[in-house]
Amino acid sequence: MSNDTPAPTPHKRRPRYSGKNPRRFEDKYKEHNPERYAETVAKVIASGKTPAGMHVPIMLHEIIEVLALQPGERVVDCTLGYGGHAKALLQAVQPGGILLGLDQDPQEIVKTETRLRSLGFPEESVVVRRMNFAGILRALTEVGWAEGADAVLADLGVSSMQIDNPSRGFSFKHDGPLDMRMNPQRGLPASEVLARVSAEKLQAMLMENADETRAVVLGAALAGRKIERTRELAAMVRSALPRGMAEDDVDATVRRVFQALRIEVNDEFGVLDTWLRALPSSLKPGGRVAVLTFHSGEDRRVKKAFKAGLLDGTYSRIADEVVRAGPEELRLNPRASSAKLRWAVRS
Ligand SMILES: C[S@@+](CC[C@H](N)C(=O)[O-])C[C@H]1O[C@@H](n2cnc3c(N)ncnc32)[C@H](O)[C@@H]1O
Repeated sequence: MSNDTPAPTPHKRRPRYSGKNPRRFEDKYKEHNPERYAETVAKVIASGKTPAGMHVPIMLHEIIEVLALQPGERVVDCTLGYGGHAKALLQAVQPGGILLGLDQDPQEIVKTETRLRSLGFPEESVVVRRMNFAGILRALTEVGWAEGADAVLADLGVSSMQIDNPSRGFSFKHDGPLDMRMNPQRGLPASEVLARVSAEKLQAMLMENADETRAVVLGAALAGRKIERTRELAAMVRSALPRGMAEDDVDATVRRVFQALRIEVNDEFGVLDTWLRALPSSLKPGGRVAVLTFHSGEDRRVKKAFKAGLLDGTYSRIADEVVRAGPEELRLNPRASSAKLRWAVRS
């Protein structure tokens, strides 16, 4: 029997869409239900795509290797997301170990906790807190781990669920409200940030957050404008660029503008700096940390903090070089192409 044969549950009409397969994120009901439609989900993954509503964990084996977890240990996943890494961490600390999972996304964290709890691990082995990882020391104190964890993981940035869901406003590939908040209950949406920002501040933001070389012209075209939709912003970026630019370069520029705004909206560099300062106190002596970054602004910060920590004796060992995804992973998951893994061991 095909794995895709749904269990006999009350009949519910499938969403209406034109064509053979659903194209809109919200209509991809099989991909949104991987437990019921495992075969469809496996096919989507094998074709090099990420199923809707899911996130494929990046460099899973490499992370498990560098964290070198032992049964009974306490591990923190600072960026729970879909829980792909968390599941492997949880497995690695059994029997007797505990996973503390943090995430600031109020929507996805609920589903992920349910998913993790359905895996059959002891109830007390999973602890989930909805919070910004900048507050990791508070989380550790609250769960009674004030002396630190044995291992900590951070897989920075946004999840595929967030990027692919048009209503979150992270991507120009779909039309949606220009929001981009990982925690929509806090801070200003990207549309408000753009409406309030000066051209000079926006130029600095584009350079600092995305190494954007056309920051001056883009800053002048976009700052102070009321732009409510993702596609509207993409169209305005395109029209501000010189004619005759290659389509790939235009797309890359649009992507960088979205990245720069997202980093600002979520204060990603600010919270990363706070987390890096808190990290030594978050780890027991001999504790291990692994960090996955996705662009130069993040990697520079992690590299600098680990190097400084090695020099002053905070860390006994750090990664000499970044670890990159191998060719097989890159074939299966193009989203791994920009990922860089760094690790350190607490003295
Ligand atoms: C790349 S995804 C993690 C995916 C995860 N490793 C997995 O296997 O599914 C990043 C996640 O971290 C969360 N996140 C990003 N920055 C955060 C922060 N400062 N505090 C808490 N959560 C954060 C996002 O909401 C998102 O769910």
